[in-house]
Amino acid sequence: MDGNGRWAQKRFLPRVAGHRQGVEAVRTLLRSAAKHGVTHLTVFAFSSENWKRPQDEVSYLMELFFKALREEIQKLHENGIRFRAIGDLPALAPEIQKLIADAEALTRNNVTQTFNVAVNYGGRWDIEQAVARASAAGDAANFEKHLAFADQPDPDLFIRTGGERRISNFLLWQMAYTELYFTDVLWPDFGEAEFDAAVVWFANRERRFGQTGEQVRGDVGLRETVKV
Ligand code: IPE
Ligand code: MG
Repeated sequence: MDGNGRWAQKRFLPRVAGHRQGVEAVRTLLRSAAKHGVTHLTVFAFSSENWKRPQDEVSYLMELFFKALREEIQKLHENGIRFRAIGDLPALAPEIQKLIADAEALTRNNVTQTFNVAVNYGGRWDIEQAVARASAAGDAANFEKHLAFADQPDPDLFIRTGGERRISNFLLWQMAYTELYFTDVLWPDFGEAEFDAAVVWFANRERRFGQTGEQVRGDVGLRETVKV
């Protein structure tokens, strides 16, 4: 969810005003995802590297996450959404860890959608912790089972807002075959129409997973060509 700071600066507002507006965009995102029947949704809220930001911005982001989760969890639950936080959670403030644990416990049996918030997450951290846990358990061959997303499907679509063309340490292992969608729209401006556009783009991708186009299209194209 990139572009909050620039959204605010364009309006001569402090960067944190952009983060606040970014939470509104997450509310909109949840509605859009529900409309399209998305079963697993993950937002990258705070990366392992975001601690390097100015201390007051880090504190504000943590507070915003805490408040938004506290205010929204009941509504998520009513909508059949299972909430999960992924990342290096023991590094977070104890009250945030407690709220996360309560939110996960409340929603654990919901099946309409899984909504993951990546907080203090990094793709490299995830691979490292999975390797460490797998070898501690003598299960090195199955290290994938120890990744943060072991019980969830790999993502089909990745959306990056804010004009950058990079993955920035998001789901490195899980995104091997994910379709990558980049848009210049700043995160607070990413509304329902922007989500619809990403879905239309995704629907037109041919996903081959290493095979040829003819194979995934059922060989029809190739036979037709040979006949001619
Ligand atoms: C949000 O956007 C990213 C978060 C860590 C929440 P930015 O804060 O990176 O916004 P820009 O890139 O400065 O515009
Ligand atoms: Mg940024």
